[in-house]
Amino acid sequence: MYEQVSHSLLNHILDQLEPEIRRRDLRHFYTRLGANFYAIHTLFHQLYGDRDDFKQQMVRLVEVMAGQYIHRSATLRDVDIAREQNHNWFLSQEWVGMALYTDGFAGDINGILSRASYFQELGINLVHVMPILRCPEGASDGGYAVSDFRNVDKRAGTLEDLRNLARELRKRKILLTLDVVVNHTSDEHEWARLARSGEQNYQDYYYIFNNRDVPDMFEETMPEIFPETAPGNFTYDETMGKWVMTVFNNYQWDLNYNNPAVFIEMLDIILFWANQGADIIRLDAVAFLWKKIGTTCQNEREAHLILQLMKDCCQVTAPGVLFIAEAIVAPVEIIKYFGEDAVIAKECEIAYNATFMALMWDAVATKNARLLNQGIRSLPNKLNRATWLNYVRCHDDIGLGFDDTDIVQAGYDPQPHRRFLVDWYTGAYADSPARGQPFGVNDKTGDTRISGSLASLVGLEAALETDDPDAIQRSVNLILLLHSLTMSFGGIPLLYYGDELGTINNYDYTNDTSKANDNRWIHRPRIDWEMTELRYSHNTIQQIFNGLQKMIAIRKTLPAFADYNNRELLDTGNPHLFTFMRNNPFIINDKVLVVNNFDSSPQSLTLSDLGPRASFNYAQLRDLYSGESPRLFKDQLVIPPQRFYWLSDRSCS
Ligand code: GLC
Repeated sequence: MYEQVSHSLLNHILDQLEPEIRRRDLRHFYTRLGANFYAIHTLFHQLYGDRDDFKQQMVRLVEVMAGQYIHRSATLRDVDIAREQNHNWFLSQEWVGMALYTDGFAGDINGILSRASYFQELGINLVHVMPILRCPEGASDGGYAVSDFRNVDKRAGTLEDLRNLARELRKRKILLTLDVVVNHTSDEHEWARLARSGEQNYQDYYYIFNNRDVPDMFEETMPEIFPETAPGNFTYDETMGKWVMTVFNNYQWDLNYNNPAVFIEMLDIILFWANQGADIIRLDAVAFLWKKIGTTCQNEREAHLILQLMKDCCQVTAPGVLFIAEAIVAPVEIIKYFGEDAVIAKECEIAYNATFMALMWDAVATKNARLLNQGIRSLPNKLNRATWLNYVRCHDDIGLGFDDTDIVQAGYDPQPHRRFLVDWYTGAYADSPARGQPFGVNDKTGDTRISGSLASLVGLEAALETDDPDAIQRSVNLILLLHSLTMSFGGIPLLYYGDELGTINNYDYTNDTSKANDNRWIHRPRIDWEMTELRYSHNTIQQIFNGLQKMIAIRKTLPAFADYNNRELLDTGNPHLFTFMRNNPFIINDKVLVVNNFDSSPQSLTLSDLGPRASFNYAQLRDLYSGESPRLFKDQLVIPPQRFYWLSDRSCS
């Protein structure tokens, strides 16, 4: 948009740029800067407009964008242009991801590369490599306490290994996702060291207070993230004799985005990783970016402005790069990380669908889809050109982050219902085969989250122990059902490494003092590559791996599974079923009816009750996953226990 103030500021900035930058041919950079400048200026002004050095900070911001553009390789610039032309590329059903810890998956970065064929065999074409940057030797929150944002931890390899991985994955058409931990640094980061040594400039990078006055005010309304191991939100630093805000662990210092220098540094880091070849950047803990006394310090409006500004700036330098918002917050809040009051996404293009994840776990424990149906119905529509990351579990704990009002609507009492779910998954409920553990137990609020691997949570660990073939089969069916939901719901399915092999809990972490007090390590496996060979011969593992492989291959052929907000939830009147229609808006008559039965008994669905949209030629109705004709009694469909159908009546192609 043209607007006089920002236009004349842009001219002023261009005059101020370093001669080295001005000499370059930056045609694409300047057209994009011109297009986004009004927004960039407005946002930067909203955040930092009251500062005397506002103009200098703006010049610095543009210098960072231009500097990183100059360093962007010709290959990546071509990728940017191709993606600009095909801007819906990431909504396609062809993408299927896997998140992994480098050491647990394959030792180091080169190890990941040596397993590229494993991804291809399974059909994975998006890999999220969790933090690999330099971090403390001992506890580092799985690398989410970063000590150097531009250097790879030597335990994982080198920066050159990472660049090589990016290049090689690109050749194989596999997208690389990397984290940028925007909310905090480790206390060993150079900025923290300088702050500790008394440098005011760097103390201003963090929230540092001389006494408890302000911290105490914050504490009144701030929840605790790790109440058992890191209670409170501030840590006393002996060297400085001051209090530092540490929302997560006491060695993770929160960055202060009131300071534009922090924003500019972080943008530079994001663009740096974009230039190393990351296709997607996962922005960690984005809900926490802005702190205000008297609030929970989560989901603040300014946190959104920061993300919008990051997006606008990234679009100038590296427009092909997408952002994932890691905001594990209330359903109505998550959706805002795509951007508000807009048509297309203007913050992050992708967000973790934590609501769907938690609702699926509810359906597994209750064996019905009442709350799942209710919760998904209450989820506001997302913007266009935005997509979900759908996952059954990830490296973190499972929080029951759905709304109390939805629980009530589904016919339960919120508190006992949540208690039941925690009990179900942590072994306190007699009938449950789950082997999870309580995480983040907060005695003050009664809140508890859940740790445990997918396989152990659905009963596979217990079934293997008792060597009960029926129970094993039930767990396998549940694992496949849950994955099928992430594949068919709309969005990018993200598998978690090890789940494709039915990996059960790993209790080794209890022997490592840097991990023992964090039971999320129970579901952060070390892949035994000899064991992976069992995918060709061992019945249980084989069923899971093959099932997923097939599901992924079929998903990729179904344009109806692309994500254009083209999912219609259907009310079947049967509480055990979660049923929806997928339909690609650009292809006529390309509908797939997805039916999921969470019950341990067969359930029926009267197709004619679903109205004309679900009219099918029953004689030709086929489950695209199994290739079989589903069981039908006239127009009544019978869905076996804990099974899913992807139904279509189109003839085989
Ligand atoms: C994110 C990560 C989690 C980490 C936290 C703090 O939520 O997924 O593992 O503990 O951020 O960095």
